[in-house]
Amino acid sequence: AEPLRIALAGLGTVGAGVVRLLEANSALVARRAGRPIEITAVSARERGKDRGVDLTPYAWVDDMQAMAGRTDVDVVVELVGGSDGPALTLARAALDAGKGLVTANKAMIAHHGLALAELAALHGAPLRFEAAVAGGIPVVKGLREGASANTIERIYGILNGTCNYILSEMERTGGDFADMLRGAQDQGFAEADPAFDIEGVDAAHKLAILAAIGFGARIDFAAVATTGIGEVSAADIAQADALGFVIRLVGVASLSTREGETPHLLQRVRPCLVPRGHPLAHVTGATNAVVAEGDFVGRLLFQGAGAGDGPTASAVVADLIDIARGDRTAPFSVPVAELEAFPKADPGHR
Ligand code: HSE
Repeated sequence: AEPLRIALAGLGTVGAGVVRLLEANSALVARRAGRPIEITAVSARERGKDRGVDLTPYAWVDDMQAMAGRTDVDVVVELVGGSDGPALTLARAALDAGKGLVTANKAMIAHHGLALAELAALHGAPLRFEAAVAGGIPVVKGLREGASANTIERIYGILNGTCNYILSEMERTGGDFADMLRGAQDQGFAEADPAFDIEGVDAAHKLAILAAIGFGARIDFAAVATTGIGEVSAADIAQADALGFVIRLVGVASLSTREGETPHLLQRVRPCLVPRGHPLAHVTGATNAVVAEGDFVGRLLFQGAGAGDGPTASAVVADLIDIARGDRTAPFSVPVAELEAFPKADPGHR
């Protein structure tokens, strides 16, 4: 069978992970996809850097944007990051050219996901972003496919590995915030600018994506009321412990259905007190966990590695396998449900 030919844009932790995964598991990936998945072109800002993988078999492209126009590319894999800028330009160009797009870019999907989905539909091009939410955990698939027959009532969970690592390590060692942040950075979980992690923005990106999928709503990142973990001290953690709680950064999306009002979508990210017996209290390190409650399935718990090269590459390649099999399902439900989001400034719901 004809191979699915891919171009990799961005060769950081995740990009190198994709190269390694496709090398290590090429035979089983080809079997499951029904055809081989082959990297044809690669591109990144710096050419000479040692990434621990051999890139000599692939064409090096200096101008990343040129990948969208190549005739030897069926799918562009965007692992550059950033909500706008080169990542968005490349994503649009790839879809405009009728090529598939697989991305791990939560910021871009949270801000432009619906516009990109419309572009994909216009050109009949597949768009996939499993790796954008909770790394290796198949939660986008879980909601879109596994729970697709349900009305989703609530989605909540731990969506940022860096914050969870910091909070759970502070709890375990009694150490201070700055040391734990360095630990997360050393292990490659943190964003290039860790303020995105600490301030809850990264978790808010992921929550907005999950809410759009789970509730069939218009993706609305601006409506996520967000508080980060910058104010959480060792004393807070000790006090919570004395009362039988741990502190976790939790994202919650739920529907408020007050009598006589149209349903509103509530989206919040904030540090929460979690009772020690609750499943989320046992989630430590860079692990993520997402709970989804559906009217027929009941409570689902998705848990696993929310960051890192192997898990995130695993989600990227799963998307590629779907595309290789010919899956062209729209990433968001269309038409979107017009759920009003609570305005962020509403003091009753901050
Ligand atoms: N910085 C993110 C995290 C990476 O810590 O969860 C995965 O999206």
